[in-house]
Amino acid sequence: MTLVYVLNGPNLARLGLSEPGPGGRPAYPELVRACQETAAELGLRAVVLQTDSEAELVGWLHRVAEEAAPLVLNPAAFTHCSYPVRDALALRRAPAIEVHLCNPYAREPFRRISVLSDVVDGTVTGLGPDSYRLALHAVARLTGAGTHPERRGATA
Ligand code: DQA
Repeated sequence: MTLVYVLNGPNLARLGLSEPGPGGRPAYPELVRACQETAAELGLRAVVLQTDSEAELVGWLHRVAEEAAPLVLNPAAFTHCSYPVRDALALRRAPAIEVHLCNPYAREPFRRISVLSDVVDGTVTGLGPDSYRLALHAVARLTGAGTHPERRGATA
């Protein structure tokens, strides 16, 4: 079973207390459950982690690169400012999708800048927990993981 890392940056474990977003304000454990359930449906195994520490996130991204593992990343506020996270993400050797629960373009001007978006395969924003679900679908599609042999190569 293909392993996919779902990494979350600062404050996301306090979801439901701070960040608004469509699809309600899921508590972090619900978000973890949604990721694990969606991953299982797709034949993936999700390891879902959260940290408030830039150094720890950089370390996890090094591990993701070493393992050539696919990645779903919500870098939270590091999105807008962290060159260390960007450089670590750029080491990746498998598909990576950036996700956001909210639509950063509908918020403060500083959130319209991502220093990471050009080193990922794609970005899903503004859909609450569905941003993660869709990103996991993209990972399954990009890696071919969990694809039934007869469906491999199918276009729909
Ligand atoms: C966020 C958006 C960021 O701008 C913010 O700093 C977060 C959460 C999101 O998922 O909507 O912490 O990444």
